[in-house]
Amino acid sequence: MSDSLQLRKPRKEDGMAVHRLIANCPPLDTNSAYCNLLQCSHFADTSVVAEMEGEVVGFISGYRVPEAPTTLFIWQVAVGEKARGHGLAGRMLAAICDREGNGDLNAMQTTVTPDNEASWALFEGFARRRGATLERTVMFDREAHFQGSHDSEMLATIGPLR
Ligand SMILES: CC(C)(COP(=O)(O)OP(=O)(O)OC[C@H]1O[C@@H](n2cnc3c(N)ncnc32)[C@H](O)[C@@H]1OP(=O)(O)O)[C@@H](O)C(=O)NCCC(=O)NCCS
Repeated sequence: MSDSLQLRKPRKEDGMAVHRLIANCPPLDTNSAYCNLLQCSHFADTSVVAEMEGEVVGFISGYRVPEAPTTLFIWQVAVGEKARGHGLAGRMLAAICDREGNGDLNAMQTTVTPDNEASWALFEGFARRRGATLERTVMFDREAHFQGSHDSEMLATIGPLR
């Protein structure tokens, strides 16, 4: 991975690049540009951009769960095809958790569809490196919540974080 790789908090000016990156990262659902702009502003403290030679090559959106603010919920993880396979997604997760101001985070949650092997490997690897456990339940069910239009989203809970 190039020396010029920088992991940093997103800013509003990244919103459209993030929007394009996510559109190029199936099976992620695209959101509106407005949503990505909110992620890059209100949720910047719990999100990260990976920039290489001026290009946004990775992005994670996250937020503190409103009723459990020391739980970091990871919304989406995107790494552009060129940058995959070098541990970048794992480094981005660590960058959010280890950032100044986030030292109180004690758990991570995310949802993953059952067949997304890369995503499971990412979160299992992160839990392993932190010496944490990963528990799986169903958060959004294919029939009960998506009315058959989307695979079930399994909730992965990782903790304790340190
Ligand atoms: C999932 C994704 C973010 C991984 O990014 P990455 O930077 O290549 O991931 P890493 O290099 O940190 O690898 C993380 C783990 O996944 C494994 N992995 C990566 N790609 C994989 C694949 N296609 N199939 C199975 N495992 C894979 C790696 O071996 C690694 O496991 P390890 O720690 O046990 O060695 C990236 O492939 C992507 O953006 N995919 C499309 C969008 C998506 O599915 N996002 C996740 C849903 S939120």
